[in-house]
Amino acid sequence: MSDSRLLVEAAERWGTPLYVTDLDVAAANARAWRDALPGALVAFAVKANPDPALLRRLGDEGFGFEVVGPIELALALRAGAPPERIVVNGVGQTDADLAAALASGALVNAESLGGLRALLGAGPGRIGLRVNPALDAGTHPHLATGAAASKFGVSLDELPEALEMLGGRSLASIGAHIGSDIRDAGPFTLVAELLARLAAESRAERVDLGGGFVGSPAAHAAAIRAHLPDTARLIVEPGRSVVAEAGWLLTRVVRIQARGHLVADAGMTELIRPMLYGARHPLTLLAPGAGVAERRWTLSGPICEAGDVLAEDVELGTEAGEGALLAIGQAGAYGLAMASGYNGRLRPAQAVIESGVVHLSRRRETLEEIVARDA
Ligand code: LLP
Repeated sequence: MSDSRLLVEAAERWGTPLYVTDLDVAAANARAWRDALPGALVAFAVKANPDPALLRRLGDEGFGFEVVGPIELALALRAGAPPERIVVNGVGQTDADLAAALASGALVNAESLGGLRALLGAGPGRIGLRVNPALDAGTHPHLATGAAASKFGVSLDELPEALEMLGGRSLASIGAHIGSDIRDAGPFTLVAELLARLAAESRAERVDLGGGFVGSPAAHAAAIRAHLPDTARLIVEPGRSVVAEAGWLLTRVVRIQARGHLVADAGMTELIRPMLYGARHPLTLLAPGAGVAERRWTLSGPICEAGDVLAEDVELGTEAGEGALLAIGQAGAYGLAMASGYNGRLRPAQAVIESGVVHLSRRRETLEEIVARDA
């Protein structure tokens, strides 16, 4: 864990709930991917954490970005990434989105025959194909994008037709993204083997293994390299493995509620992963609050839903009462990124740690910003 004094300082300066991302940790994780796959394009999945300072830091260090849709594309370009380092995905991109993405110079993946038709009609540019490998990645059903019934990718049955549609136009990439939160290297071995074969058949220039990795990049890379030894040809799109451990959600206990609830000032609106996927995030008491009896608590949020729970059955000692400052760990990926305004919540402020200093990267949303769009 980063220096907890910096986290306490951040909470005192900018209030809670607050997201803090350690850019040095994220950059080191991204470099681990680069070291494990020399010459590959390591394209950070912006959807995992679009903090502007994080994107700038990764862009400055030469990493690329995997984006979905025109806004993430604009964020990646704003972060200074050249379009050669940007990969655009998306199963529901409109014809206009596809044309704009192609015109930006980024690599644009088609995920369906219709999407490919639209891309081919959208002008010159770098076109890729995402296939659906129809495999079980052994993850939460919401995150299993490579399953046969999922909406993602051109199926292997459709692939000959897709290649014929190219009509001699070169294929910049062939790839797959089999899902997220995958610990085991086994599914990546299978997908690497499949993509090696499809790349040869389609004469695609690059092979894109998508993201989804949890655990050491070196171990996943070894599984991939067994089938795809020419690493300079590869693209990976890691999100969680770069940034999950680099982020914390800081929250204070507002109230003790009977029946064992500590009610915090953050909830499902700031971190929906426990509610949505049953995810478990580690909790640390950063600064004491009022005294409480030693017991096991449910850490609940302030939202008007019974499922608004951040952690269940946690032990936090005798100082976890009102005012206590808690750090929710492993929150750098898909925490802030999925925050919502439900129950009139303002999107939290974001701070970043860099070289032992913490600074604000985006202030908290305001009521004025919310009502500014009223007609
Ligand atoms: N590439 C594509 C095409 C993706 O759709 C994703 C994630 C990634 C790369 C990055 O995957 P990662 O390395 O971060 O696993 N909200 C969920 C995760 C959804 C992932 C969506 N796609 C969660 O909180 O666990």
